[in-house]
Amino acid sequence: MTIQQTNLCASSSSIYLHVILLFSICLFCLQTAITATAPTNETDHLALLKFKESVPQAFNVLSSWNDSMNFYNWHGITCGRRRQRVTALNLEGYKLRGSISPDIGNLTFLRLINLQNNSFYGKIPQEVGHLYRLQQLNLNNNTLEGEIPSSLSNCSNLRFINLMVNNLKGKIPAKLGSLMKLETLRLSRNNLTDAIGQLKGLRVFAIGLNKLSGTIPSSLYNVSSLQILSVPYNQLNGTLPLNIGLNLPNLQIPQVGANDFFGTIPTSLCNATQFQLIDLGHNNFIGSIPTNLGNLLDLYQLRLSSNYLGRDFHFITSLTNFSRLQILDLYSNQFKGVLPDSISNLSTQVIELYLAVNEISGTLPASLENLVNLIILSLYFNHFTGIIPTTFGKFQKMQELGLGGNNLSGEIPASIGNLTQLFELNLSENKFEGTIPPTIVNCQNLQLLNIEQNNLNGSIP
Ligand SMILES: *[C@@H]1O[C@H](CO)[C@@H](O)[C@H](O)[C@H]1NC(C)=O
Ligand SMILES: *[C@@H]1O[C@H](CO)[C@@H](O)[C@H](O)[C@H]1NC(C)=O
Ligand SMILES: *[C@@H]1O[C@H](CO)[C@@H](O)[C@H](O)[C@H]1NC(C)=O
Ligand SMILES: *[C@@H]1O[C@H](CO)[C@@H](O)[C@H](O)[C@H]1NC(C)=O
Ligand SMILES: *[C@@H]1O[C@H](CO)[C@@H](O)[C@H](O)[C@H]1NC(C)=O
Ligand SMILES: *[C@@H]1O[C@H](CO)[C@@H](O)[C@H](O)[C@H]1NC(C)=O
Ligand SMILES: *[C@@H]1O[C@H](CO)[C@@H](O)[C@H](O)[C@H]1NC(C)=O
Ligand SMILES: *[C@@H]1O[C@H](CO)[C@@H](O)[C@H](O)[C@H]1NC(C)=O
Ligand SMILES: *[C@@H]1O[C@H](CO)[C@@H](O)[C@H](O)[C@H]1NC(C)=O
Ligand SMILES: *[C@@H]1O[C@H](CO)[C@@H](O)[C@H](O)[C@H]1NC(C)=O
Ligand SMILES: *[C@@H]1O[C@H](CO)[C@@H](O)[C@H](O)[C@H]1NC(C)=O
Ligand SMILES: *[C@@H]1O[C@H](CO)[C@@H](O)[C@H](O)[C@H]1NC(C)=O
Repeated sequence: MTIQQTNLCASSSSIYLHVILLFSICLFCLQTAITATAPTNETDHLALLKFKESVPQAFNVLSSWNDSMNFYNWHGITCGRRRQRVTALNLEGYKLRGSISPDIGNLTFLRLINLQNNSFYGKIPQEVGHLYRLQQLNLNNNTLEGEIPSSLSNCSNLRFINLMVNNLKGKIPAKLGSLMKLETLRLSRNNLTDAIGQLKGLRVFAIGLNKLSGTIPSSLYNVSSLQILSVPYNQLNGTLPLNIGLNLPNLQIPQVGANDFFGTIPTSLCNATQFQLIDLGHNNFIGSIPTNLGNLLDLYQLRLSSNYLGRDFHFITSLTNFSRLQILDLYSNQFKGVLPDSISNLSTQVIELYLAVNEISGTLPASLENLVNLIILSLYFNHFTGIIPTTFGKFQKMQELGLGGNNLSGEIPASIGNLTQLFELNLSENKFEGTIPPTIVNCQNLQLLNIEQNNLNGSIP
């Protein structure tokens, strides 16, 4: 009896056990099913806690990330209304120091990650590749290292990637080329090189202010969607491809200044008619400036300083029907001969004209007065002869007039006193004679007056 009872007891308890086991197995199945196939807001909750854990030095920024409050209300978190899942993680500019937890990859509803201006270190977790809804990834200005995870290529909705100012290195993963919606890729101040020519939707290629060397991957010149090519201040070399303007018809801003590019400026550049700014300065470009610049109706800055350009001035004529040109910078090139009168037909919107440090001769065209809005006229270190035309008194807005280091002579015209905005007047190293016109006292804003090495006499007004 006792035995039976015990048996019964045992069997009933074993049934009980079975039920419990079955139940818990089912529960377990259910739970795995839920976490594996249908992540919930709890998935996000846990992932955020892990994220916080990996940022030990969060100061008070993440103090609201505690269980006294639903995570929808945590600082820097935005959630979608319907599913209550995290859609944005925005913790910009808090000096947060920590790593980026791989669990961030579980926040599968994320559309925006903005951690710029912090001190995140370590690698960009490859789990970011799970975030297929992600549209913006901004990790600018941290101390992230390692390579750009190629898994990012899974985030097919990415439109904007900014990884500037980090310590990333290695190659730009070719797979990123599959990001058809990508419009902006900013990678400056990293140690990255290599081909990215498959980025068919790329509009911005900005890698300026690095120490990158070598050439721009030639495949980039095939990315016809490109609008901004900004690579200034690197050590890049190579030539601009002959068909650059034909292959990149949407290019608006080619900014390749302060590198070691060489060769001629391809005429085809002007086939990309949407240019707003051309900066090829501080390179080793040689030869003539294309004469078809007249196609570039939106161009407002043409910066070509410090090259070996200047076979002739023919290009000036093509610029003369412009309405928007504001800055023409030909400083330190190899322009020779007489400055053509047509320079006076540049847009009256020109405010800065730099021709200094060339070998330009002849007289200063009196017609320059047409450029009534000039603020800076920099003609120093050339071979100009003759007088300063009295018409220079028309430059009501002139702030900086540099005529030093030429062979100008005659008297300084009294009309110089009309330049009431003048801040800097440099007439040094010329052959001016006579007295300093008393009208100069009208130049109330003058802070820098250099007239040394001339033949001036009399007293200082
Ligand atoms: C998740 O959502 C459910 C239902 O909307 C809610 O009851 C629960 O509190 C949420 N969990 C967390 C951790 O917020
Ligand atoms: C995130 O997902 C991975 C893989 O599914 C899992 O192993 C991990 O535990 C999850 N993390 C959290 C905090 O839930
Ligand atoms: C938890 O978050 C709440 C709300 O921001 C805050 O008032 C509280 O101080 C936090 N608790 C801790 C222990 O940090
Ligand atoms: C973060 O950096 C960007 C770019 O460097 C800058 O424009 C922005 O003002 C900075 N924001 C903060 C909050 O420091
Ligand atoms: C980087 O972020 C810090 C704040 O964390 C800010 O002080 C600094 O100016 C930023 N630097 C750049 C280049 O944006
Ligand atoms: C990226 O997608 C591929 C194929 O779609 C998949 O095999 C891989 O696991 C994904 N990687 C990540 C990090 O999500
Ligand atoms: C960039 O990477 C190359 C090759 O890995 C290395 O030789 C060089 O020192 C790095 N430059 C910087 C500035 O980190
Ligand atoms: C271009 O730069 C690379 C890397 O600095 C160098 O090896 C190569 O000699 C340079 N080519 C020319 C023509 O200057
Ligand atoms: C550029 O595209 C053309 C035509 O599609 C192709 O023949 C050429 O190989 C490409 N060049 C590079 C460097 O990818
Ligand atoms: C490129 O520009 C030149 C000179 O303006 C012009 O003759 C040529 O037809 C243009 N080519 C194309 C394909 O637009
Ligand atoms: C400038 O415009 C005038 C009149 O519209 C035209 O005759 C002349 O050919 C144009 N010059 C250039 C260089 O396009
Ligand atoms: C410029 O100055 C001269 C002499 O000082 C004066 O006669 C003339 O009216 C002034 N012209 C203008 C345009 O201000």
